[in-house]
Order: sequence, then structure tokens, then C-alpha cells
Amino acid sequence: MSTSENKVVELANYHPTDFVLERVDLTFELDPTNSKVDARLIFHRREGADATAPLVLDGDELTLSGLLLDQNELPAEQYDATPQSLTIRDLPGASPFEITVTTFINPEANSQLMGLYRTNGVYCTQCEAEGFRRITYFPDRPDVLAPYTITIIADKAANPLLLSNGNYLGGGNYDEGRHFAAWFDPHPKPSYLFALVAGDLGVVEDTFTTMSGREVALKIYVERGKEPRATYAMDALKRSMKWDEDRFGREYDLDIFMVVAVSDFNMGAMENKGLNVFNDKYVLADPETATDQDYANIEAIIAHEYFHNWTGNRITCRDWFQLSLKEGLTVFRDHEFSADMRSRPVKRIAEVRHLKSEQFPEDAGPLAHPVRPTKYREINNFYTTTVYEKGSEVIRMIATLLGPEGFKKGMDLYFDRHDGDAATVEDFVKCFEDATGRDLNQFSLWYHQAGTPLVTASGAYDAAASTFTLSLEQRVPATPGQPTKEPMHIPLSFALILDNGSVATPTAVSGGEVTGDVLHLTEQKQTFTFSGVSSRPVLSLNRSFSAPINLHLDQSADDLGHIARHDSDLFARWQALTDLALPNLMQASRDAREGKEVEASPALISALLETAGNHALEPAFRAQVLALPGESDIARELGSNNDPDAIHAGRTAVLKAIAGAGRDLFQHLLSETRTDGEFSPDAESAGRRALRNSALSYLTYAEQSPSIAAKAFDDANNMTDMLQAMTLLAHRFPDAEETSAALQAFLKRFDNNPLVIDKWFAVQATIPGAATLGRVRALMENPHFVRGNPNRVRSLVGSFTFSNPTGFNRADGEGYRFLAEQILEIDPKNPQLAARILTSMRSWRSLEPQRADQARSALLSIDRSSSLSNDVRDIVERMLK
Ligand code: ARG
Ligand code: ZN
Repeated sequence: MSTSENKVVELANYHPTDFVLERVDLTFELDPTNSKVDARLIFHRREGADATAPLVLDGDELTLSGLLLDQNELPAEQYDATPQSLTIRDLPGASPFEITVTTFINPEANSQLMGLYRTNGVYCTQCEAEGFRRITYFPDRPDVLAPYTITIIADKAANPLLLSNGNYLGGGNYDEGRHFAAWFDPHPKPSYLFALVAGDLGVVEDTFTTMSGREVALKIYVERGKEPRATYAMDALKRSMKWDEDRFGREYDLDIFMVVAVSDFNMGAMENKGLNVFNDKYVLADPETATDQDYANIEAIIAHEYFHNWTGNRITCRDWFQLSLKEGLTVFRDHEFSADMRSRPVKRIAEVRHLKSEQFPEDAGPLAHPVRPTKYREINNFYTTTVYEKGSEVIRMIATLLGPEGFKKGMDLYFDRHDGDAATVEDFVKCFEDATGRDLNQFSLWYHQAGTPLVTASGAYDAAASTFTLSLEQRVPATPGQPTKEPMHIPLSFALILDNGSVATPTAVSGGEVTGDVLHLTEQKQTFTFSGVSSRPVLSLNRSFSAPINLHLDQSADDLGHIARHDSDLFARWQALTDLALPNLMQASRDAREGKEVEASPALISALLETAGNHALEPAFRAQVLALPGESDIARELGSNNDPDAIHAGRTAVLKAIAGAGRDLFQHLLSETRTDGEFSPDAESAGRRALRNSALSYLTYAEQSPSIAAKAFDDANNMTDMLQAMTLLAHRFPDAEETSAALQAFLKRFDNNPLVIDKWFAVQATIPGAATLGRVRALMENPHFVRGNPNRVRSLVGSFTFSNPTGFNRADGEGYRFLAEQILEIDPKNPQLAARILTSMRSWRSLEPQRADQARSALLSIDRSSSLSNDVRDIVERMLK
């Protein structure tokens, strides 16, 4: 955090190190407040490197306690040590030498949760991106790879478990009630993949036999007593291992694979070699305490971290500008895994919703940056939805451009050519070019140009000539540091749908490249002409969201209704219904703002109800359709001068109209989706619950009384149903007696389960309206609110600022002042968490002037503080620029 104070790191300045690290040998003597770390590092000077260059090692808040060169003390004039670096001069030429560095660190006092820290009495580490330098002086960069030997010495009674990366070498008793364990990781790795865990934990064990017949021990460590809640994660892990073999030919490469769940963690999880460390929220689940969304998240994140073993660990990043090389690719892989485990179209719909509601606003605001940035001030601030989710979409486009076979050839070449390397995005793209012969030069702009491209399209049918012409124009908006843009290569999947629902097969196409059902938009303006189209088709464009763009295509409600009813592709049907709903919701917001009566279009209502009641469609899909675009989606479409209160009022009025018109249907859906059997978290059952709960939500609008939600709360026999009922009570009837009774009952029942308490906080923090800020402030005094726990802070403060548009964006600016206050309080303890929560202001410039002024003042009040972390300083300055 504090190492690169005010320094901007630039890709253009990349140089390999002067010294090659051959091996690493670490010995930890663990103590809660004073842990000793001995690092023995063997280096040699790189061939061709400057013979006089000193060895410069990174540190962060370190104090040097001992330094040996080849086991001899160094004279003071040969080195300089500061908390941020250790510089050693006059080192040998080509022959290897050994440096031994001793540091003492205080895990208990480490509230940043970077480096070695304590959580619930357990020692654990988080080293990505630059946490290792908080443990010892080290060349802490991803292109320095070495095998590691680790020895851990600790009190045996308190820490029966001593874990690190690689394979277990052995252990035994030491002195004074202490014991030790040694681990060796033969796979050269960068320091960010180092991990150590020590403590007393319960375990769930299993084995996996790999495709070449090796047996791998699988262990998931959790707090004692919580073992039964780790069985779903274990199941997901085994399915991930099998899937990576089947789909990508990737086999696991150590004797053991471990996952440790901890309760204090800044992010979701971490892919340390052979020893993944997880936020326990993404490991622990049972029917009583976990929602269907929790199960889906666990499956996806277990897979994500496991998949990193190849895309991230075996092939790592040369520097942090290449972060998407591993993250975008691994997100793509976990998306594909979930699509194979669940319903592919429903998974795609959820992905696109997430991309549009999180990544599109980032790309349209002051924090916009390319998937492969060229400079950063604080790398922790680049673990963004652009690097992750847009990065994944870019890889999905490569797969679309090359087809399944071409894509597979490119991936195989990548694994083959770069195994063991610290690679770049260019290396990755080159593999696809070399494997298929396709030129991806223009396509690579997706990595380098920020901003969501806007494609404007219009189609015209000429009956006499039997031709359909499609005119396209692309524009990539200006983003910070990138005022002008080049035209991109945009792969647009399309279909021309005929009256009977079949897809037209034109006899010829001119105007540009078309491969299969993908047309390639490469110019700023391009017109495609399709011949031999015998009747007027309805155009379905950007099918499956083949490109992450904003599309402006004027289509009549009739045409959209046609796609919504007849398309063979579920995603296209959802897209059409969304396109039907959005203009209505936007108009509703404008009308609500002007105090006019809000109308719901009959075409929208009938298309929605027809879909909702269509038993031929899977329930999860119907639930996605009924969810309608959210308030943030409407805000994004409106673009500027936004009034969150009007958006909320307009959308609510539309929902009520749909609820009124569909009351009988929703009643019917509620009774027909009742399940009394045993709970199963599978996708189909989850889909039924989702449909049921969306029917319940509409009914709550239609009935205007809390009784139906209160009954659902009492009847619930799983967390998904219970949480939805409690949310409906709290959000629609915040002051009803039934609501406070439910909130109290919930708290009483789950008060020993922090992950469920997080849900209790989040439900209340997201109650719409100006009054919620007072509630949030009161909840901060609740004994269950633990300031040092990131999950708790995110569930209360984060839910309020990210997911409560009306409460947070109070017209009087109190919400923004609250955020500023919280940021200044969190920052000194946990800068990463503070910076992340501050990004909830990323769209402040698109607010109406009064709110925007208030937001700016709050940002300026943060900016004025003289003691900001580099993390928050970076975000606040970019946001104000
Ligand atoms: N590599 C991890 C993941 O995506 C994320 C870790 C990020 N940690 C951080 N401190 N920035 O799976
Ligand atoms: Zn990742």
C-alpha cells in the first residue's frame, strides 16, 4: 500500500531484474505479535546485466533485523535498509550468492489484511498483489519465479495445523511446546502466490484421481464445527478438476490441493499454489443459512481459484499491467464451467446483467481504464470489473471470431508455449494468431481502448430486390487519457428471423466479412447487404451478447415481441424483452419526475405475462425476465442528469401495473412452485424458487399489505425463501409490525452466524428512501457490527452505498457525507477496503446538478485529508479529475 507513494508505475518502463532468483528458503517462527522470518535467497546476476548494479529488494513497513551474504555479516556501508527497500551493493558477477534476511513482523497488528495477519486466531497470508513485501525484503514482482521451501515453527497446542504451498515434506516436535512442518513447492512461482496458514481448524477431506491416474488429496479447512457446511464446496472442487481436464486438457500437478476458509478477507478468494485461501462466505453453505445465489457463487469461485492453477500459476503475468491475462481468462473459464453445470442461457443472462450494471458504469465514468492499462498508481485499485469481466468478454469474442476449434488450437498453443512463463497479453493473442493464421491486430484494441463502444444500427428491407440492408456505425467514447479512438473489430452475432420464426439463409452477403452467423464490423461505418431474403425479416443483433457494446437499434414493439415469442435462442428472447421494457421504464422515470401519471405499455405487460406463464420455458429464465432492468440499468440508459428518486418511483409504478394485471397468474405461480420436499441447491430447483419469489414480489405489490410476505417468511424452509420474504417486508413495509417482528426473529435465530448476520445488515441497508441512512447509522452501533471485518463493513456500508440508489443519493447530500466519514475512518486501518467502497461514487457525474454538487463536496472533503492511503488518494483524485 504505502510503497509506491505518489509514484506512477508505467508499462513503458518495464525491465527484467538484474538478478535471477534461483531459489527461496523461508523459515517462520510464528508468534501473534512478533513473528520471525528468515529468508534465504539464492541469486545470480543475469547474463548481460550491468555488473555494478545493486540488488534492490522491496519492503513495506519492514525493519531489517539481520542480513548475511553467503552466511557472513555485511559491513554497514554495503547496504541501505528503509521500511520500503533493501539495497545491497558490490555483489558478485555471474556466480550464485546467498542472501539471508531476517525480519520480525506483527500479524496481530496487521489490519490491512495484506501480508501475514491473524483472523479468528488463525495465521494466514494474502500476498497478491504486493503483500509479500510486508513479510520480508524480496524482489516482489510477478516475473521473478523460484521454487520455495518453507519451514513453519509454531506453538503446537494453538496451531496443530501448519500449511504452506506445494507438497508436505515432513515435520515433528521442536522446542518449548512448539512443532514444525516443512513444505516444498517444486513449481517455480512468483511471491504473490506464496501462502502460509497456521492454527486450529476443522477439515473436510476427499480425493481426486486425475486423468493420468494420480491420486490427489483434497482438503478444505474451516472453523471447527463448520465442517458439514464445506461439503458443497468440496463437490464443486471435484467437478472443477474434472471439467478442466475434459474441456481444457488441464491436469492438477501436486499431491495435495487445499482450501482454507477465513472470516477476515479483503476480496473473494486467492489462488495461492496448492493452498487457496477463501473468504469463508465463498466456502460455507447449508440449506438453512445459504441462498441459491450463495451456492452458485461458491461453485463459481471454487472453480475460478482452481482454474488459476493453469491460468495464473503455471502461466503467470510478467507484470501487473497483464493482470487480465490471468483474471479475464480465468473468469471466462469459470463462466463456461457454470454454463456447463447449470443452464447456459440463464447463466449468460446473469453475466450480461452483471456486466452492464457493474462494468458499463465503470467504463463510462472517471475510473474507466483499458483491460490492459499502461499505468497505475496503486495496483490494488485495478482488480476491477473491467480487468475481470470485460477481460473475459474479450476472450469470449476471440472464441466467437475463431470458432470452437480455432479457439481450442490457440489455447493449446498457449499452454504449450508458455507453461512456466511470466507472459503478456501480447503473447496470449499471438498464440491465437499463430494457431489459426487470423490477424488479430485490430481486434487487440479491445485490450487497449477503454470505453464501451456504441453501435448504431438500422435495417431496411427491399421487397422488390429481396435484399435486406444493415447499416452500422460504431463510436468509442472518450475516456480518461484517451480522447480519440480507432474503430474496433466488433463481432456481431445475428439472425434474420422470418414470420414463421425460422431463420433466413441469404444467398449472398456483401459489404464486409460474415462468418457463419457472425458479421465483422471493422470500419467506423459499414453497410451489409443480404440477398435472397424472400420476406421482410426481423433483425436479431448481437445475439448472446457476442460483443460488450451498447447497441442502438430502433425496433418496433411488434418486432421485439416477435423475437421475444419466437426466437430459438433464450438469450435473444430475454434481450428483446429487456429492449421492450427499457424505453417504458425510462419514460416512467421522466414522467415520475414531472409528476405525471406513469404508464406501463400494454405490449410490455402482455409479453411479460405470457413469458412468465409459459410452462415450456425454464423457471429460472422466466424469473430473469420478470426481474426487469434495475434502477441502475435505467440510470445508465438515461445517461445524465439523473434523479434516483424519480427512477425509483417510475420503475415502482410500472411494476405495480404489471402486478395488478398479472395478479391471477402470480397467485397461480406461487401455488404451483410450492416445494415441501428436501432442499436441493441444484440449478433447476433454484430456478423454481427464483420464479416463486418473483411471483411473490409482484403479489406483494398487488396486495399492498405485508401479510403475504409475512406468511412467506413464516413458511420458509430455506434461506433463499426466507431472505426474499424478509427483504419484501423490509423494503415494501419498513415500518410495519410484521417487518420488525421478522427482523428480530431472524436476528435471534442466526445471531451466532456472521455470514447470515451480513444478510440481515444488507437487507436493512438497502431499504429504499431517505430514512435508511438513520437506520444504517443506528446499525453501526449494533454489537454485531464489527468494524475490522470486511464482510461486515461491506454488508452494511457497502450495501448502502452501492445498492441503495435512493437512500445513498439523498437530495440533501447526507449519504455522500456519511460515505466520506466512513472512508476516512476505514482508510487508516484497511486502505484496500476503503478504496473499494469509495468506488460506489464512480457515477457521480451523471447525477442531476444538485446531487452532483453535494457529491463533489464530499469527494473534496476526502481529498483534503492529508493522511490518505495511496489507495484512496488514487481513487479520489481520478474521480475528481
Ligand atoms: N487473484 C484473486 C482472484 O481473482 C484476487 C486477489 C486480489 N487481491 C488483492 N489484494 N488485490 O481470484
Ligand atoms: Zn482470479
